[in-house]
Amino acid sequence: MIFNNRFLIIFLLPLYWATAFGFTEYLLKTCQQSGFCHRNKVYSQNILKTKNSYYSIDLSSINYEVEKSKSELNLFTANIIKTIPRPDVGDIKVVLPISISFLKDTNSVRLTIDEDRHPELDNSISEILNPYRYNETWKWAFDIDNKDILQGDKLSFYELKGSSNNVISLYNRDNSIKVEVYTNSFKIKVFYNDTLVFTVNDRLFMNLEHKRLKELNFQNINPEETPYNMFGDDFEYSKDDTLKFGPESVALDFTFNNMENVYGIPEHADSLKLKDTSNTEPYRLFNVDVFEYTIDSPMPMYGAIPFMIGTNKDTSAGIFWVNAADTWVDIAYEGSDTKTHWISETGIIDVVLFLGKSPSDLTKNYIKLTGKPQLPLLSSIGYHQCRWNYNDEPDVLNVDSEMDKYQFPFDFIWLDLEYTDDKKYFTWKPNSFPNPKRLLNKLARLGRQLVVLIDPHLKLNYFVSDSVVEDQGCVYNSEGDPFIGHCWPGNSIWIDTLNPIGQKLWDGFFKKFIGSIKNLHIWNDMNEPSIFSGPETTAPKDLIHYAGFEERSIHNIYGLSVHETTYDSLKEIKDGSGLRPFVLTRAFFAGSQRTAATWTGDNAANWDYLRISIPMCLTNNIVGMPFIGADVAGFSGDPEPELLVRWYQAGIWYPFFRGHAHIDTKRREPYLLDEPDRSIVREAIQLRYALLPMLYTSFFNAHRTGTPIMKPMFYDKTMYPELYAIDDQFYVGDSGLLVKPIVDKEATSVEMMFVPGIYYEYTNLSPLIINGIVPQSRNIDAPLDIIPMFIEGGHILTRRNKYRRSSKLMRHDPYTLVIAPDVYGNAFGDLYIDDGETFEFEKGEYLETNFSLNDGKVLKSTVLNEPQFDNVLGNTDIYEIKIATAAIKKTVKKTVTIISGSNKHEVPLHRSEDGNWVSIRYPKIKVDETWEITF
Ligand code: GLC
Repeated sequence: MIFNNRFLIIFLLPLYWATAFGFTEYLLKTCQQSGFCHRNKVYSQNILKTKNSYYSIDLSSINYEVEKSKSELNLFTANIIKTIPRPDVGDIKVVLPISISFLKDTNSVRLTIDEDRHPELDNSISEILNPYRYNETWKWAFDIDNKDILQGDKLSFYELKGSSNNVISLYNRDNSIKVEVYTNSFKIKVFYNDTLVFTVNDRLFMNLEHKRLKELNFQNINPEETPYNMFGDDFEYSKDDTLKFGPESVALDFTFNNMENVYGIPEHADSLKLKDTSNTEPYRLFNVDVFEYTIDSPMPMYGAIPFMIGTNKDTSAGIFWVNAADTWVDIAYEGSDTKTHWISETGIIDVVLFLGKSPSDLTKNYIKLTGKPQLPLLSSIGYHQCRWNYNDEPDVLNVDSEMDKYQFPFDFIWLDLEYTDDKKYFTWKPNSFPNPKRLLNKLARLGRQLVVLIDPHLKLNYFVSDSVVEDQGCVYNSEGDPFIGHCWPGNSIWIDTLNPIGQKLWDGFFKKFIGSIKNLHIWNDMNEPSIFSGPETTAPKDLIHYAGFEERSIHNIYGLSVHETTYDSLKEIKDGSGLRPFVLTRAFFAGSQRTAATWTGDNAANWDYLRISIPMCLTNNIVGMPFIGADVAGFSGDPEPELLVRWYQAGIWYPFFRGHAHIDTKRREPYLLDEPDRSIVREAIQLRYALLPMLYTSFFNAHRTGTPIMKPMFYDKTMYPELYAIDDQFYVGDSGLLVKPIVDKEATSVEMMFVPGIYYEYTNLSPLIINGIVPQSRNIDAPLDIIPMFIEGGHILTRRNKYRRSSKLMRHDPYTLVIAPDVYGNAFGDLYIDDGETFEFEKGEYLETNFSLNDGKVLKSTVLNEPQFDNVLGNTDIYEIKIATAAIKKTVKKTVTIISGSNKHEVPLHRSEDGNWVSIRYPKIKVDETWEITF
């Protein structure tokens, strides 16, 4: 019997609390237990000893395709020949077509290696299966609307070198990237500005397990290989896997030369800087449901973004492994290099190598390829109040009004699973939600929105699942019958959103369900997919999807296909109003940032999960998927008040900020807290709202260039090696706000790291000066009502101070600018504003203003873009300009002169009692005007 983890939770919960984490781990394979991972590890260990190479390029197959219109070379193709030496019967040779191209405007090299299969010669594969390797992961991961990028860039030059013509050099358009292809023993070296960055197949771990007949398997194996589980699976929970193709894995090693720090490849509950896995399990990328996942572990989780970033002081490099199958990644920090080994169960080798001077170059180019992180609804970056479950309409409206009564601003309220009629998605429980429209209208009065849960498993025997089965839009089992598995509703089928039929059906259900309602949004959960009766909590790998591809090949993009299909239909439904949809997904892949927010899944209410939420969010932020948060204050278990307070103080910095709780927990809406905790949490949430202008600007920058919203210390400051492993404090976007949430019980102070410069404590602008040339730590007071946060000198923050019940109601409030000069008296800030809810910004309907202070003397605004229509921006008045004075004392006078257009006036300066700042009140200028203030 395959255990269902939720079933076990009920019976073993007391035991669980008494022991450590790692509850679901036994359900998951180790590398040793996973056939293809095991085989590749053995292969790599043996190859290290024998140094044999079985892969070489057939020189006669080399070809350069010319893009006709421009007569430029843009694609290098050839055949790699895999040789299995058989002195007795003659060598077996397998043809593996390879292509190399430079992707336009992204400083990147793409390498693909497929297998030349001949299904017509092989009748071992059932007719319902697609006989080829899946090579369409890129179609989901890349932003395929961006046609430009998919054209290869010019390959400017090549040459054959060496006595036996064994090195081919390819250059990109501006010669900044050189690729050397070694043909005899296949290897690739990638240079950036003449510096060797990557060596591909450095350790000769390349392995592509070619198609062979089971009975001839023995002839098709090289001496370093083991046949372990090539045609069957020993693992207790996946014994039934039919493995119809036999072994199909693809593996390759990449050395980051002269780089000792690698990051990325979420999702793992682990440190920001990836760990050496030489003596542990590799990091695994395989979307699975891991209730109360293990912390500080490489175990797989709900999402997978196979993008790794490496950096040193002046060069950064990224590996994007475009493969949706079960994948393991080994990392070894060796001397000054980082050696990585990527192993996927199936698919082709499709990898994009990015090169740049800094991590931000990589993120920027990576999102050019995979799509921009969405610019979400402004309201959706406010606070979300969720629990499993708000029971009925009066319950929802009561939470809504209690939040107002206690002055907790919020924008979204959520309905989990139980709002449905007997767990049938696209229905409402009739007695509890007799009139959803009425509820939604009531919420809309304060600009509030509702999110409801719709999962991809569909209970058997009701109109939705019936039509999916009838129209053949479901996922099939290995026999070709609709797959039936267990999830929340009991026996269910799964929608196949990779299939255009499935997409069309899904779209139709949403159209009916949502109709003309504007403030209803969707949460796609359990889309790994989670299958309680399935192996490793997910789908059997031999299920069949659209075009005859196995689950094995597409597994990690299934969740993306679900939430993207949801988003597309919501967008179409809302087209009339032009409103942006909001979709939350639990499973994700590269490209998910285009259409969904995500969260870190089923954590628990204890300090360790609070701590780990920060590196988890940071990691997603540097790989282009910044809209992420963790359940505040832990999904399962009842947080003690101190933990709840500290979690809110951390949660206000998550790009996606939602309170959520398991159905078995006590109610814990923040207004239920006793004083002083209630006021402390209120203050934290109100701070989030005050900072919405800055946060929304950060979201816009993320949308435009991929800039992380929670930004690791090292990201813009690679010159300081001391920062490479810091993952418990971070910057907020480009704002200069530096935060270190408290994640330790009973902490009253904390060590915080600062690079040399001047900082201002956020609330009172008192200065902290860090001299010298290396980062230093300082002990910062942090009693329960304090969040350690500073504005780094050199920045200008924009905020709206007044409490309002929701973000929408803040539209009519004026702005405050906070100027934090650096030691030279300079500061800079930007502000982005649009209508907060439509796609009109794409047509230029937005404001972008830069503010700058020069030499502590002149503060000015520069409007870079203005909307055409008046109603886009709301109130743009500036109520106050506050300037921290520590770095500019000498230059501050009693009055200032403001020049705005042809208007010139003098205004008095107010001084704070503590002397930390001066301010100008009611300066009669606006954020959407050009003006100048001279001190
Ligand atoms: C999953 C989700 C959780 C949700 C629950 C019920 O466990 O991760 O957030 O509350 O399902 O739908």
